[in-house]
Amino acid sequence: MQTSFDMFYETEVPEGELIVSRTDFTGKITYANETFAEISGYEPDELIGRSHNMIRHPDMPKSVFTDLWETLKRGEVWNGYVKNRRKDGGFYWVHARVGTVMKDGKPVEYKSVREPISREKAIEVQNLYDKLRSEEEGTTRVVLYVKNDKLSEAQSLED
Ligand SMILES: Cc1cc2nc3c(=O)[nH]c(=O)nc-3n(C[C@H](O)[C@H](O)[C@H](O)COP(=O)(O)O)c2cc1C
Repeated sequence: MQTSFDMFYETEVPEGELIVSRTDFTGKITYANETFAEISGYEPDELIGRSHNMIRHPDMPKSVFTDLWETLKRGEVWNGYVKNRRKDGGFYWVHARVGTVMKDGKPVEYKSVREPISREKAIEVQNLYDKLRSEEEGTTRVVLYVKNDKLSEAQSLED
């Protein structure tokens, strides 16, 4: 049996920063703020016009997005935790609020505003999502968290 080992870096969303995007009714990105581009590692023009699932992380359970779309279709606001994939393969965690933008009483677009979450929350939600995914897909993956200071300790020992 072969064991493979991958390591992915987490990008922390700075406290007080908001990641904002808007989409059309099919989930195609129509607007991305600078923070979104910076944290996801994409240029704004690489984001606009693409489907929002371009940053979908494989750790996200399908049911979370089914719930998101059903909530939006009912005209309600969706709140939830999302792990997104950066262009370089790394990831970042956010708490997202997604709702409908209205103009003259009519729905015109969807909009999402996201804020940082604590490390403790991210670990709690990762465990929950791992359970959901194994129920949905029957696969199990082990996720190991390494604190950056431990990493630099290990690196300096190697030097
Ligand atoms: C306004 C808005 C923002 C969204 N933001 C994200 C996001 O940050 N990350 C993500 O993976 N999906 C996001 N989605 C959901 C995606 O459109 C998509 O449903 C999801 O990535 C799952 O991909 P799939 O539907 O192709 O399975 C967003 C949807 C909307 C309407």
